[in-house]
Amino acid sequence: MGLIAEDMIRQIIDRSDIIDVIGRYVTLKKAGNSFKALCPFHHEKTPSFVVNPDKQIFHCFGCGVGGDVVGFIMRQERVEFPQAVRFLADQAGIVIPEDQEQAPGPSKNLKDEIYKINEWALVFFHETLLTSRQPKPKAARDYLKSREVDLETVKRFRLGYAPDEWDSLIGVLKQRGVSLELMHQAGLVIAREKSGYYDRFRGRIIFPIFDINSRPVAFGARSLSEHEGAKYINSPETPVYTKGRHLFGLHLTKTSVGEVDHIVIVEGYMDMMMPFVHGVKNIAASLGTALTVDQIRLIRRYSSNVIMLFDTDPAGQAAIVRSLDLLIDEGMNVKVVTLGDGQDPDSFIRRFGVSALGDRLKQAQTLFDYKFNWLAGQFNPQTIEGKTKISQDMLTTISRFKSEVAKFELMRLLAKQLNVPETVILKQAQNQWKSSSQMNRPVTQQAPVQTVKGMKPQEELLIALFLDDHQWAQKAQELLKLEDFTEGLARDMVQKIWRMTQENLEWTDTQLMAKLEDQQAQSLVAKLLSGVHARKVDPSRVFGDCVKLIQTEGIEKQKGQLQKEIQETEIRGDTVDVGTLRRFEELNRRVKNRG
Ligand code: UTP
Ligand code: MN
Repeated sequence: MGLIAEDMIRQIIDRSDIIDVIGRYVTLKKAGNSFKALCPFHHEKTPSFVVNPDKQIFHCFGCGVGGDVVGFIMRQERVEFPQAVRFLADQAGIVIPEDQEQAPGPSKNLKDEIYKINEWALVFFHETLLTSRQPKPKAARDYLKSREVDLETVKRFRLGYAPDEWDSLIGVLKQRGVSLELMHQAGLVIAREKSGYYDRFRGRIIFPIFDINSRPVAFGARSLSEHEGAKYINSPETPVYTKGRHLFGLHLTKTSVGEVDHIVIVEGYMDMMMPFVHGVKNIAASLGTALTVDQIRLIRRYSSNVIMLFDTDPAGQAAIVRSLDLLIDEGMNVKVVTLGDGQDPDSFIRRFGVSALGDRLKQAQTLFDYKFNWLAGQFNPQTIEGKTKISQDMLTTISRFKSEVAKFELMRLLAKQLNVPETVILKQAQNQWKSSSQMNRPVTQQAPVQTVKGMKPQEELLIALFLDDHQWAQKAQELLKLEDFTEGLARDMVQKIWRMTQENLEWTDTQLMAKLEDQQAQSLVAKLLSGVHARKVDPSRVFGDCVKLIQTEGIEKQKGQLQKEIQETEIRGDTVDVGTLRRFEELNRRVKNRG
């Protein structure tokens, strides 16, 4: 895909109102001229996430992130700048001409085509299951009955049966004028080695997978016997389906999930369907994998409280453990339920009934207990090696919690469980966290940004003034050089602002935002625009002080460099030239005059 022209980007940003866009992810409440919400990027109980419709920016006073509408999408959807712009364009119904000319990616049209084809395929499978008099679909009906899936459930989930033939779906779709190429792009047919295509799903029960807007995006297909190859065959990735982006059943349960404010996550199709038909309405399935960040964020739109209810086999347990750290990173509250040996939710309900499952859900283990027990199952907590291994692994998990209080309490608990003094655990945490520190944590979960890295307070304040009144940016250019600013974030931002000021004194905040692809820079500008600095009182004094400080530091730096140069020359036994000495004295004088 090509670059997007700057005025195109501006047009897309103009058409994407930040309130509309963010409002799709969080519940915004009006507060004065702004809107408030619980921050989607860190866990909190009282809203400190503010969206300003006039400035078209967001800022979280809790965790410090902020930016414009593009910055929001970058963080929320975890994409880079160009993808975020395309995402917004797509939502605003804007076609980016550059993309059209260069490479027609999955355009909105193609996606719509595939949704439609999937729907036709779904209806065909569904009707075959419901009405076909052939022996095989009948056997499928009997099979479902044997698993206590009744007609109502079949209709609710729009289950189907794919005939055991090579081209029955191809025939149906052909009649509707769908090209084989499109069927292939929808993942419904497989290309033969030589030429031609055949149906992907044959002789299997079909479980359609929907997105949260109830559009069919993919299919899972279960064989009726245990001997016929893979138990489930699934759609490949297509323009409308990316693995790990959806949760099976969530389109039916999202409202209940929001109402009861927690969700039960299971692994399989049947594990979702069975509890659901028995009245557990806040449930969805990850479909045989650990939860992905995308899935977690999808869940978080409805609730931050998750109960993991996975199979008890090692694969299921491993999937839980892999999910836990991600869930903490995303600020979710997690509990875990394990059923008895070899049971999954579907078999458990059929054996013990849904109220027994309800009891298990009520007795869900905390994340700490679950993980500790899981580790204790692998390493003996009575031995030194065991204690070491367990504490290391537990501390890695504990380090991911945002709340210092939570961290501390969990460490105390860990000490108690391992029967070692608290101080030992605290000490180990100190060592362990220092060395690996924040490396494996996502940007969004890092400690609240109080002072910005790569920038001194006086630089931050000065930039704040530039934003308030562009005249300050003009004035500063007369007094300071770019090299006076700390290399990196500070210098880059000042350079951008100065350049914009030179071009046109009347630049807007949105224009600046659009120039900042760096998320840290975006957050900083949003923070400054949200008025966290009390700089309004006496701006010219603040300006004077900041400039002076930065100048002095600049001189000190030059002086230091010169001093080093002189020393090195002397060490080599050479004579220092007079010019250098004069410059040094001049700098010295200037420092004293300011002092
Ligand atoms: P399970 O093997 O636990 O199957 O896989 P299940 O859901 O309990 O199915 P039943 O009860 O035997 O009918 C859990 C999930 O992993 C995925 C499916 O999404 C399944 O629901 N899976 C499993 C596959 O995609 N392919 C497979 O071959 C097996
Ligand atoms: Mn099962």
